[in-house]
Amino acid sequence: MRSHYCGELNASHIDQDVELCGWVHRRRDHGGVIFVDLRDREGLAQIVFDPDTPEVFESAEHLRSEYVLRVRGRVRRRPEGTENPNLKTGEIEVLCSELEVFNRAETPPFVLDEHDHGASEELRLRYRYLDLRRPEMLERMRTRARVTRTLRAYLDATGFIEIETPMLTKATPEGARDYLVPSRTHPGRFFALPQSPQLFKQLLMMSGMDRYYQIVRCFRDEDLRADRQPEFTQLDVEASFIEEGEVMRLMEVMIRLLMEEILGVELPDPFPRITYAEAMRRYGTDRPDLRVPLELVDVGDLMQGVEFKVFAGPALDPQGRVAALCVPQGSGLTRKEIDEYTKFVGVYGAKGLAYIKVNERARGREGLQSPILKFLPDEAIEGILARTGAADGDLIFFGADKASVVNEALGALRVRVGKERGLMEEGWRPVWVVDFPMFEWDAQEKRWTPLHHPFTAPREEDIALLKSDPGACLSRAYDMVLNGSEIGGGSIRIHRREVQQQVFELLGIGDEEAEEKFGFLLTALKYGCPPHGGIAFGLDRLVMLLTGAGSIREVMAFPKTQTAACPLTSAPSEVSSAQLRELSIRVRVPQSDQQG
Ligand code: AMO
Ligand code: AMP
Repeated sequence: MRSHYCGELNASHIDQDVELCGWVHRRRDHGGVIFVDLRDREGLAQIVFDPDTPEVFESAEHLRSEYVLRVRGRVRRRPEGTENPNLKTGEIEVLCSELEVFNRAETPPFVLDEHDHGASEELRLRYRYLDLRRPEMLERMRTRARVTRTLRAYLDATGFIEIETPMLTKATPEGARDYLVPSRTHPGRFFALPQSPQLFKQLLMMSGMDRYYQIVRCFRDEDLRADRQPEFTQLDVEASFIEEGEVMRLMEVMIRLLMEEILGVELPDPFPRITYAEAMRRYGTDRPDLRVPLELVDVGDLMQGVEFKVFAGPALDPQGRVAALCVPQGSGLTRKEIDEYTKFVGVYGAKGLAYIKVNERARGREGLQSPILKFLPDEAIEGILARTGAADGDLIFFGADKASVVNEALGALRVRVGKERGLMEEGWRPVWVVDFPMFEWDAQEKRWTPLHHPFTAPREEDIALLKSDPGACLSRAYDMVLNGSEIGGGSIRIHRREVQQQVFELLGIGDEEAEEKFGFLLTALKYGCPPHGGIAFGLDRLVMLLTGAGSIREVMAFPKTQTAACPLTSAPSEVSSAQLRELSIRVRVPQSDQQG
């Protein structure tokens, strides 16, 4: 139907006859001449309708935004002074000789422009096919395709085989709720959609595939955030006869190549590594954003004897932590700003946000300003100043609570303050986080839970700790973190049946349950399992970072809302009673959830 894309025309096409197809982006009437910006995937071309060609001119008068056209015409140079340097095709225009209107269009519910013009996300998702017409969205989809192409090319070249694994399967525990699919042929039974292909990729290693990858949809029913969707895509990788060093090297090379290819950016070689313990201590999180130069500093030991119970309590509690965060030139923060930060850390459970303003350090106590000064002896104050390295004009924030609360609160504050005070460095700061603990104690449920998943191998030298001190047992897991976002995580797996059983046991998964849930894995482990390990990257998160998008929804063609629904198709929706009967399902909706 067409000879060119609108957006590919330039001065080299002058005097050529062309045929273009696309949508009316904008129509302008200018003293008897009509201009239409015709838009297709590649960009805009200005079409001119001249009254001297009355047949087309008349039809052009009826054109509206988003009408779908075919245009035939001759390319000519725009008259001097009317060129548009902001447009790829800004030097030329097409004088229309023939016009075909394929379809008319109603006025879209929002402007289809470079920007989203404040249209609500709900509206954008309901009319996603219109939203995707915006060049910004199109560009993100293209980048996503370039990303997967680059990743595939690398993995193909390094000997990985792309293999598909089932979507209708059995639950794999990755820490979220499952999406279930009822079986018609097995009444009362359900498939689970995979939270990841974890167990299948391990089975593929036992099959001798040696190196596997897959770009694969995963499903997790969990609380959604900007970087979480119920349905998302992983780049999933697994390899045999390999140790963590080699997995990390292979994946680092891949990500370095990707950044080079997509953004022309060079990442450090090798990526820095940090242990989980050090990351928690210095940044309060296991996905530190290294672009922020601030660090948490422990001051608990200085507080054990002070009369200020808010600090002394956590300082004496083995599960507690008292930490400081020094904000350079922060003493200018107003009461209001500090109150706002106090509210912010409150979201993470912090009960307050004590601070000391360092006005003039040389004057000792006199040079400081703080609501807690009166509670602290000189040695404690001296210790704080020395450890944080605070200088005149700085402000020191404090968190005192259970370590988990302090870490979350000050960890988040560190990033927020870093951003707001302009301390954030430019660029890309990848880091590997290693030496994760195997288990976390769930105080509510009173049991150990895996920090990654139950198939992660303990460090060889820590296997004995499985019995004596599970909390001290470190794993062979590694996470890749980029600018504060966990883009990938993986581990060396357990390849010995006894160890796997031991871990199940520790997690409170009895023999019977283990057999019922993972019997196939335990059986497979009897038939010759190679040592193996791998990793999975969150593809959506990667593309979000590469495109600078604010959420992973912006890099998915048809994402779900924050409440895991699709405004476009109205999914999830009710189904007919006939369908339910066929599936042997009776629906019981709590009164409060019934929709009118
Ligand atoms: P994990 O659970 O860490 O590991 O997932 C791997 C990566 O997937 C991304 N991710 C998500 N992205 C969007 N929405 C979500 N709801 C979501 N959940 C996770 C993250 C994360 O780093 N089977 C293991 C991998 C392995 O051990 O090889 C796994 O799934 O970027
Ligand atoms: P209070 O004695 O409760 O008035 O608290 C004195 C100061 O300590 C205030 O600035 C509070 O914001 C702060 N504060 C209270 N609880 C904590 C806490 N758990 N961690 C850090 N600061 C706190």
